[in-house]
Amino acid sequence: MENFTFYSPTFFVFGKQTENEAGSYVKQFGGSKVLIHYGGNSAKRSGLLDRVINSLKKENIPYIELGGVKPNPRSGLVYEGIDLCRREKVDFILAVGGGSVIDSSKAIAAGTVYDGDFWDFYSGKLIEKALPVGTVLTISAAGSEGSPDSVITKEEGMFKRGATGNAIRPKFSILNPELTQTLPPFQTAAGITDIMAHLYERYLTNTKDVEVTDRLIEALLLTMKQEGPKAVKDPNNYEARANIMWAGMMAHNNSCGVGRSQDWNSHDIEHELSALYDCAHGAGLAVTMPAVFTYVMNHDVMRFAKVAVRVWGCQMDFDHPENTALEGIEAFRHFLISIGMPKNFDELGAKEEDIPKLVDVLCNGNGRTGSLNGFVKLDEKDCTEIYRMMI
Ligand code: NZQ
Ligand code: ZN
Repeated sequence: MENFTFYSPTFFVFGKQTENEAGSYVKQFGGSKVLIHYGGNSAKRSGLLDRVINSLKKENIPYIELGGVKPNPRSGLVYEGIDLCRREKVDFILAVGGGSVIDSSKAIAAGTVYDGDFWDFYSGKLIEKALPVGTVLTISAAGSEGSPDSVITKEEGMFKRGATGNAIRPKFSILNPELTQTLPPFQTAAGITDIMAHLYERYLTNTKDVEVTDRLIEALLLTMKQEGPKAVKDPNNYEARANIMWAGMMAHNNSCGVGRSQDWNSHDIEHELSALYDCAHGAGLAVTMPAVFTYVMNHDVMRFAKVAVRVWGCQMDFDHPENTALEGIEAFRHFLISIGMPKNFDELGAKEEDIPKLVDVLCNGNGRTGSLNGFVKLDEKDCTEIYRMMI
């Protein structure tokens, strides 16, 4: 195991009706003027926004609102939010929504207290200072409710890039599984896929003897395999929603990723797809992961065979472990299809003729230097081949 530090100070409030306590947590964490940031219409339609506003009123906390965050959130609204927060002297940002809303909130939080262009953080600069952010989560997926990360797309060039820093870990996150019951099955499934991707990206490591985190990841993958289809089939299954919601947080606050190298090639390869085609991140990952895994499998066949046996119930073929590895990847692919995820470029809305453009932005755009350096180093030729495998 490698040396590590781990700082995860988010206060979690989990369970039914907990959104009504948002105001008291804003107060507890020092907010005296709040920006409520939200997405399209879902939080308004469900009455959630009203409940959150009432909770602020109850504490006599003044607030302003900024809605309109799109899935795969854009830089334009972030600049708008930064101006607004400075003008209105906002000192706390309350994100009401999914990963896109939370990530946009984190970007505004960092940008408001920074002298330069907030995009510097999405070009590699560590976020060391930000306004405090609290979240009321409405979809189990990105894990942004407990992560030090934010992903934003810059309209100019359509670069989808991440920024990181403990300063943007939420001060508190309210996780009420009931709020996810209004999700359409497709979004539920896309979230399940993203959660499983966060686990696989950590499982694919070059660090030896990391049994504790391996076992944690396997347990969470098994949970998703069992609970995921229940929530897709019955959106009102509270217990399945609750298990998925907590698994989604644990999958990405990095408790499963400490002390080991991680992959993230699948995420980088997918981010170009959701940037160009505006598809759901999880749907993009469903098409990306089986292709990446099959392409890199021989780098450490036993690692793929291990997850095949421990999670997907495959029989170990000791003479030909590559068969077991491949069987596990296929079982994962079939699982994703069974919950309603797309299986190829066509179903995702991606186009073969765009592959050179995808590869160029992926490998060379926004400061990249020709390759991805995850579990396996992938150059332009490798990435081209991987995108071709998705056709
Ligand atoms: O905008 P509204 O109307 O709210 O609709 C949203 C949106 O259309 C809808 N939705 C959310 N909660 C709902 C609901 N509809 C009905 N009922 C509810 N309770 O779902 C759609 C998707 O929402 P979004 O926030 O985009 O989903 P998700 O949480 O999957 O976030 C995706 C973004 O997070 C990034 C992705 O790249 C993508 O941009 N990621 C962020 C990470 C992080 N910060 O740590 C890590 C991830 O790997 C990921 O890259
Ligand atoms: Zn993800």
